[in-house]
Amino acid sequence: MVSMAFAIKFLLLITFLAAVCTTDALKQKVTRIQFYMHDIVGGPKPTAVRVAGRSNFTSRDPIATMFGSISVMDNPLTVAPNINSTLVGRAQGIYAMSSQENEFSLLMTLTYAFTSGPYNGSTFSVLGRNPVMNKVREIPVVGGTGKFRLARGYCLARTYSMKEMDAVIGYNVTLLHH
Ligand SMILES: *[C@@H]1O[C@H](CO)[C@@H](O)[C@H](O)[C@H]1NC(C)=O
Ligand SMILES: *[C@@H]1O[C@H](CO)[C@@H](O)[C@H](O)[C@H]1NC(C)=O
Ligand SMILES: *[C@@H]1O[C@H](CO)[C@@H](O)[C@H](O)[C@H]1NC(C)=O
Ligand SMILES: *[C@@H]1O[C@H](CO)[C@@H](O)[C@H](O)[C@H]1NC(C)=O
Repeated sequence: MVSMAFAIKFLLLITFLAAVCTTDALKQKVTRIQFYMHDIVGGPKPTAVRVAGRSNFTSRDPIATMFGSISVMDNPLTVAPNINSTLVGRAQGIYAMSSQENEFSLLMTLTYAFTSGPYNGSTFSVLGRNPVMNKVREIPVVGGTGKFRLARGYCLARTYSMKEMDAVIGYNVTLLHH
């Protein structure tokens, strides 16, 4: 016969383990970060360059023309909209024009790497759709390194200013991590 004392001990153990797991899950931190990204496509020193794909044989429509093109970026990230404000990191990676519909939409595969400030040396990565003409775009964060190890979260991106094709994009990022 299983004694009552054993049953109680067993229940206490389960409760203890559940408590430990819950505490561990609760240890997840939330970090919110704000910065501005500078996407410079023109001028003598562009930070985003088209490396492949263009199809002006299909149409003169600029959206159809850009569909399929792929760019590589190494965009500076600063604390304020001014490009000369404190540099906190760089956004590096690839984006592709991925919509044939009546919109500019990108597939973004980027890593945001911090090079100064409290997150110096840490990174987070995004993978998702960015319909750039929308006022606010939400892009998922799929991982990170350093302080952002095991991160998940999301970015809210909003175009702050646009001069010709050069854009300043405001980012509010929410990260859940350990
Ligand atoms: C593509 O565009 C370039 C520059 O506007 C032009 O010189 C070229 O003839 C076009 N090609 C086709 C196939 O339309
Ligand atoms: C940033 O600094 C450069 C070099 O000092 C200057 O030419 C440029 O006008 C400045 N840009 C802004 C937006 O302040
Ligand atoms: C950022 O971290 C690197 C590597 O640890 C270090 O060399 C650099 O001085 C740091 N930069 C700032 C601005 O803290
Ligand atoms: C980010 O948050 C600030 C302050 O809460 C807000 O003013 C700004 O509009 C937000 N930006 C985006 C892109 O959501």
